[in-house]
Amino acid sequence: MLFLKKIPILVDNYVWLLVNNDGFCIIIDPGCSETVIKIMNKKKWYPIAIFLTHCHFDHVLGVKGIIQYYSYPITVFGPDETKNYHVNKILKEGDKIIVLNRTFSIFFTPGHTAGHITYYSDPYLFCGDTIFSGGCGSIYKNQYLEMYNSIQLLSSLPDFTIICCSHEYTLLNLQFTMFFLPNDIQIQLYFKKMQHQISIGKATLPSYLIFEKKINLFFRTDECFLKKTLGMNLFSTGLEVFTELRIKKDFFGAKRD
Ligand SMILES: [Fe+2]
Ligand SMILES: [Fe+2]
Repeated sequence: MLFLKKIPILVDNYVWLLVNNDGFCIIIDPGCSETVIKIMNKKKWYPIAIFLTHCHFDHVLGVKGIIQYYSYPITVFGPDETKNYHVNKILKEGDKIIVLNRTFSIFFTPGHTAGHITYYSDPYLFCGDTIFSGGCGSIYKNQYLEMYNSIQLLSSLPDFTIICCSHEYTLLNLQFTMFFLPNDIQIQLYFKKMQHQISIGKATLPSYLIFEKKINLFFRTDECFLKKTLGMNLFSTGLEVFTELRIKKDFFGAKRD
């Protein structure tokens, strides 16, 4: 039996942990080591593997401190772009790895970075900066098509997939959604609920894919209302809508993560 935990670090990152009943765990995207080690010691948890999704400092900078702190070997998995961060198993699309007696499938999900990968073991999805609750990661190097395809791939997973993304951007993302859907009562209620969570010091994450398909416009790029709202032709493709929406999000106040 595994359970999921998250550790807030830096400004708005989460480091995710999957822990088994014996206290052995996987650390996902440790952007710093001190806070993670402190909590692991307090809980008496021991890392046996680290999963990296992509090569941004807020996801990889803690690897060195963690592997140096423990006196036994910890396997570090990651895409090729993270190879300089103590990775000893480089992963690519279609790979499967077994850790803590569970199989994780590796999806190549570029767009935010050119080599971003995502880890999936039903029902957990560790998607780094690909999708967030209510939004998606920033696009670097013009990779709109890549990000669009990555989101399409993730949207094909089961509805009750648990979305473990790396940043607490939900409120800002939902404000963006409400800008386009000002009369959607369900989204307004969800926003209020998440606002309350934040006000009492709780996270809005993880989310579920079934919610994201309602509150996250980046999963709804084929819908006519969005094309109309964006002033686009009704024959515009999902990719064209996605690109327009992502550019608008940059001006709306996206953080570059
Ligand atoms: Fe990030
Ligand atoms: Fe990133």
